[in-house]
Amino acid sequence: MRIDIITLFPELLRSPFEASILKRAIKAKKVVIDFHTLRDYAQNKNKQVDDYPFGGGAGMVMKIEPIDLCIRHLKKERTYEEVIYLTPDGEQLNQSISNNLSTKKNIIILCGHYKGVDQRVRDHLITREISIGDFVLSGGELAAAVLCDSIIRLIPGVLGDESSALTDSYQDGLLAPPIYTRPANYKGWEVPKILTSGNTPEVEKWRESQALKKTKKSRPDLMEDPR
Ligand code: ADE
Repeated sequence: MRIDIITLFPELLRSPFEASILKRAIKAKKVVIDFHTLRDYAQNKNKQVDDYPFGGGAGMVMKIEPIDLCIRHLKKERTYEEVIYLTPDGEQLNQSISNNLSTKKNIIILCGHYKGVDQRVRDHLITREISIGDFVLSGGELAAAVLCDSIIRLIPGVLGDESSALTDSYQDGLLAPPIYTRPANYKGWEVPKILTSGNTPEVEKWRESQALKKTKKSRPDLMEDPR
């Protein structure tokens, strides 16, 4: 898979890809990540990428020309299945969107800033708008890191234990059950006996019931979902 990220601030985005699972995935060539600095595509001498909104009002608007040039440049090299704009008013990210995106070959992610992009970018250049939650970040970069992480860890071969992405919270519509490791007794705080019993079917039953209990308590809305 290849992800091209268009951003005004690539330095905001580098470190998530330089450690742990994402670093390993890049090294193993499971994914190629490339950053494209929007300012490099600015048209005028001042490298201007934003301008005042038509009709007045507070805040600046990201201009269409540098974004269009950058996307056009990328599209000359290869075909993209999605051009994603990260914005707080997009469709809310969830596990099923991440699963779907992890099967794509090439995607572009555009990070917004200021008040956002000229609406014509959204109307003509973008195929999908995604928000990582109902809150406003200063820019799309941190959201892009979140989105990329959630996608890349699902690419086959990226996680060491193949089954571990399947047992994540949300993957089966429920939150994950509690997990424990040694010691079985720490300061009198004991691990549930069933987990050290060696009875695998009973352990599985316990996990299922705990997942249900946790979901009912923390996220009852997930249980109403008719998926
Ligand atoms: N840019 C600013 N806030 C955002 C959010 N919540 N999700 C995605 N992109 C954003």
